[in-house]
Amino acid sequence: MTGVAQDELFTLLDIQGEDALECASLLASPPGDGTRRALASLDARLGVFPSTSASADGCTETDWIEAFLRFAPVVHGHHLSLGIPPESSAAILADVGLNLRINRRVHGRFGLDTWAWLTLHMAGNIFRIGRLQFHLVRSDEEGSAAASDSWVLGVHIPEDGGLSPALVDTSFSQAREFFDRYFPDKAVSVASCDSWMLDPYLARKLPHSNIAAFARRFTLDRCSDAPGDAVYFTFRQRGMENLDRLPRETSLQRVVLERIDDGGVWQLGHGHLVLPAARSTPA
Ligand SMILES: CC(C)(COP(=O)(O)OP(=O)(O)OC[C@H]1O[C@@H](n2cnc3c(N)ncnc32)[C@H](O)[C@@H]1OP(=O)(O)O)[C@@H](O)C(=O)NCCC(=O)NCCS
Repeated sequence: MTGVAQDELFTLLDIQGEDALECASLLASPPGDGTRRALASLDARLGVFPSTSASADGCTETDWIEAFLRFAPVVHGHHLSLGIPPESSAAILADVGLNLRINRRVHGRFGLDTWAWLTLHMAGNIFRIGRLQFHLVRSDEEGSAAASDSWVLGVHIPEDGGLSPALVDTSFSQAREFFDRYFPDKAVSVASCDSWMLDPYLARKLPHSNIAAFARRFTLDRCSDAPGDAVYFTFRQRGMENLDRLPRETSLQRVVLERIDDGGVWQLGHGHLVLPAARSTPA
């Protein structure tokens, strides 16, 4: 590992408990072929603003985890070289630890079935700003209605407590300032979001929820079938087996399952919005 102590690395990535032990064991011996291939792929993607995840290229989930551990200090250095504060870099890299914890909830073991999502983080163009994450990509590659802009912010919603409108407002306005400051040559005025949360069915059924208020910010461009997304994000279960065993305690849990009971298919809503104007001129 280049120049970063292991405990510092695990703090940066917010890797805790049993996951830290597993990760330490991955770093205890030199990287194998799969990890080297994953590292080469991450290296080629750093700083070129890819909009999609890396392809597996025969690497295993464990290869990717080890590659993220070894590559994260490089991404952190890349962020710092752009003048981005260390805490902003750490805020997005902490998604590695969060996703390891989520993997334990989903599969009951060490792993990272969301490794492809984390390859975006390692390219250096996604940031957590307040409650939300923002992925800076060329708009033509994003395929949204933001055709007149060269760059667009893809919005993602990490799991981390409630999504109150006030938190979302702050996040959007801080994002505008952040990207104006650190990527001044990549003007953004539009954000896009592809999420089960933008399925209009949800806003109809839970009109007073934070999720509906979030969805209403976006102009819905289209929907596509995504039968498993609402189940995964609500229950952290992959696949559609044994749905009758899932809890129906919250209104969202009931809405998700009752739609499926009725033969409905959850959708991925693809939407966009115009970002609020920046509050201040970047220094
Ligand atoms: C998005 C998220 C932060 C919304 O949380 P929130 O602000 O609490 O949501 P709302 O206030 O709109 O919730 C409305 C209802 O749904 C419930 N709810 C919200 N998210 C829930 C979840 N993940 N699991 C179970 N119930 C949930 C709330 O408890 C509330 O129930 P109630 O009416 O019985 O009190 C939360 O769902 C979450 O963390 N999801 C995982 C991340 C995600 O889905 N990202 C998008 C990926 S595309």
